[in-house]
Order: sequence, then C-alpha cells, then structure tokens
Amino acid sequence: MSLTIIKGTILSAPTLGQLDALPGGYLVAEDGLIRGVYGSLPEQYAGAPVEDWGDALILQSFADLHLHAPQYPMLGMGMDLPLLDWLNAYAFPTEARFADTGYAREIYSRLARELIANGTTRVCMFSSLHTDATLILMEELEKAGVTGYVGKDRNAAPGLLEETTEESRRETLRWLDACQDFRLVKPMLTPRFTPSCTDELMAFLGKLAAERDLPVQSHLSENQAEMAWVRQLHPGCQQYWETYAKYGLWTSRTVMAHCVWSDARERQAMRDAGVTAVHCADSNQNICSGVAPVRAMLNEGVKVALGSDIAGGDHLHMFDVVAASIRASKARRVLDNWETDFLTVPEGWYLATSAGAAYFAEQPGFAPGNHLHALVLADDDLPQPHPMTPQERLERAVYLRQGGAIRAVWSEGRKVFSAEG
Ligand code: GUN
Ligand code: FE
Repeated sequence: MSLTIIKGTILSAPTLGQLDALPGGYLVAEDGLIRGVYGSLPEQYAGAPVEDWGDALILQSFADLHLHAPQYPMLGMGMDLPLLDWLNAYAFPTEARFADTGYAREIYSRLARELIANGTTRVCMFSSLHTDATLILMEELEKAGVTGYVGKDRNAAPGLLEETTEESRRETLRWLDACQDFRLVKPMLTPRFTPSCTDELMAFLGKLAAERDLPVQSHLSENQAEMAWVRQLHPGCQQYWETYAKYGLWTSRTVMAHCVWSDARERQAMRDAGVTAVHCADSNQNICSGVAPVRAMLNEGVKVALGSDIAGGDHLHMFDVVAASIRASKARRVLDNWETDFLTVPEGWYLATSAGAAYFAEQPGFAPGNHLHALVLADDDLPQPHPMTPQERLERAVYLRQGGAIRAVWSEGRKVFSAEG
C-alpha cells in the first residue's frame, strides 16, 4: 500500500460558500485515495513519513472545465474583436498550425507542465481538428499528470480548418481507436459549436455518445451574433440548446461553455438534463460576449463550474479565473439593479475546485474516497495587515500570490510537481 501524509493548514470547500480550515492538520491518502483529514495523526499511521509543510496552505487543486489547447500560443493576444470575427482572425489561423506534429509536441508539453505547476489537475479541453496533434496533447497531459477529457475539435473555417462530414466521421473513429490506452486522459466528443457542424455530423456524434457512453463538450449562447446564426441554421429549434438536444448531445455528461445569454427556459433545460454550465468570465469580457447570469444559475440548481477558456480568456491560472468570476458577478449585480448577489471568495473557490471535480464524480472538498488532488501554497513572504485567518489567506491568494507560491501538487494520488525540483 502507498501512503501519503501531508501536514499543514488544510483548507477545503465542502459546500458552496463554506471553507473548512484545519491548521496543523493531516491530509491522509492510501493508494491515491483520501482517507481523511485529521487534527492529530491517527494511531495507525504512527511512525509513517509525513510531508510537513508547516503553516503553508494545503488546498484542493483546480478543475478547468473549458479551455482550448491549440490557442495557448496566442494567450494574451488578439482580443479586439467579438467572437465570430475573433475566431476567423485569430483562433482558426493559430489552430491551423497544429497540422505540424513537431509544433504540437513543443506547445503541448509546455502547456501540460504549466497547468500542473499552477495547480490545474483536471480539465475538459478542446484540441484542434487534427487527430495526430490531439493524440500528442493527450500524451503530454498524461505524462505531466493532468487528468480529465480532451476532444478532437471540428470546425468550418473555409480554407484553414476544413473537414468534410465524412472525413470528420472517419477521423473521429480513428482517434477513438488510438486513444484507448490512456489511463488518466479520456476522449470527449466535441462538436465545437452548432455552426461548425453539419446536421449529419451532429447526428453521428449523438449516436456515438450514446453507443460508447462518451461525454460531450461544446459552446452555448455565448454571443448574440452567434445565436442569430444558430437560429438561421436551425429554424425548427426555438432555442440554441435544442440544436444539441435534438441530436442526443444534451445529457448529464454534457458540458456547455459560456451560457452568457441563457434565459430562464434554457437554464431550466440545463437543470432538467443535468448539463454543466462552464462560466468563463475572462473570455466573456475580453471578446465582448456579455456577463453570464451565474447567480441565477446557482439559485435555480444548474450545475456550474469555471473555465479559463484560453485564449479568449487571458488567464490560464485558476486563482486568476476565480478572481475574474467574482469580478464578473459584481458587474452582473450592477446590471441586475443590485438584485443578484455577487460571488463570495468561498463560492468562487468552490466553483473552481469542488464543483469542477463533481463532473468527475468526486465528492466536495477533501472527502474520504476522493482521489488525492491537492496543492501546497506558500504565502509567508507577503506582508500581513494583521494575523490572518486561513480564510483570509485564501482570499488574498485568489487576488495575489508571491513568486513561486505553489510548492507542490498531487494529481490522482501522485505527486506531480515540486517547486524544489
Ligand atoms: N465558439 C466556438 N469556438 C470558440 C472558441 O474557440 N472560443 C470561444 N470563446 N468560443 C467559441
Ligand atoms: Fe471556448
């Protein structure tokens, strides 16, 4: 049996809005599964090696439920256009470079290592439409210790990223065959968004999702021009979500990014089907999409998680994504005549950790039975206004971290990063 015992100030989010803190606590995992969090070390572990991090914070690591790996090279660039123009001008040309497998290897190994070094251990990620580059992405994530789902994308940028329905179908099957041996990174069907898929392709993917029990990710109601296009393409559907539902792509294993303009009816459809909405606050602001009604979704019982959505989003590190979601919720409050509450730090933290992990069938917080996904965060180099509680220290970490703050990361029970080298 392998045993991991991590000692420090253990802080976790067991429910939306609550942070449990245990200074000098022990987080114990056996064979990669959490056994418990203890104030003193249980007798049975006496004499076992303990990783003692002193007063440092021991936190849940992050789940980033929406990001585009082939947009990583353009991170921080080209945010002067709204969605559809932005895709044509920046995203599609950048993604087209992933026809080159050497380039894919170089970029994806860097992305995987940056994710892990910054505490993101679970993802739902878009690749490009290139099957070979997608397999390289999965390999690099697995090697670095990032777990979760990756989808070979499909899209219709004439001359750049074209694939016929038949090619897409064939390549999807080749990709699914080729990725069977990955242990921690699994395939996810990824109809990029309704306008990039023919009806036949949507029908094929829906059937495949049902036959092979595969999860699905896409985009929903992000931008009003996009929504108008969808209405034009599917006049028989009253709302955007119905274009997915019609083809069997709207289930409890479906993840939909953005949902900025989802009204009460669309949100109800999400709740009824158990679809997870992924809030991508940075992206929504950068490419002028709008401000998503996250509080309404939470109040109505819709599942919500957070996504960096790089490179519409300009922050890959999830501490920053939490801060962005809190800021966006304050803008939403103002737009809603001060009638909706903004997200608190404990709520934002829950969405980036426990809520994302829930998609991977984990219980909230450091619950016994969960796979060990954790990070160590040092903040001893920052000035303090007064002796700070663990909750205050987390609040500050969301907005401000010292250089090299993340000292160690565990993913799926394994230590995958150590700042000590
Ligand atoms: N909708 C379709 N493709 C994309 C993309 O790459 N980024 C964002 N933000 N929205 C999309
Ligand atoms: Fe996206």
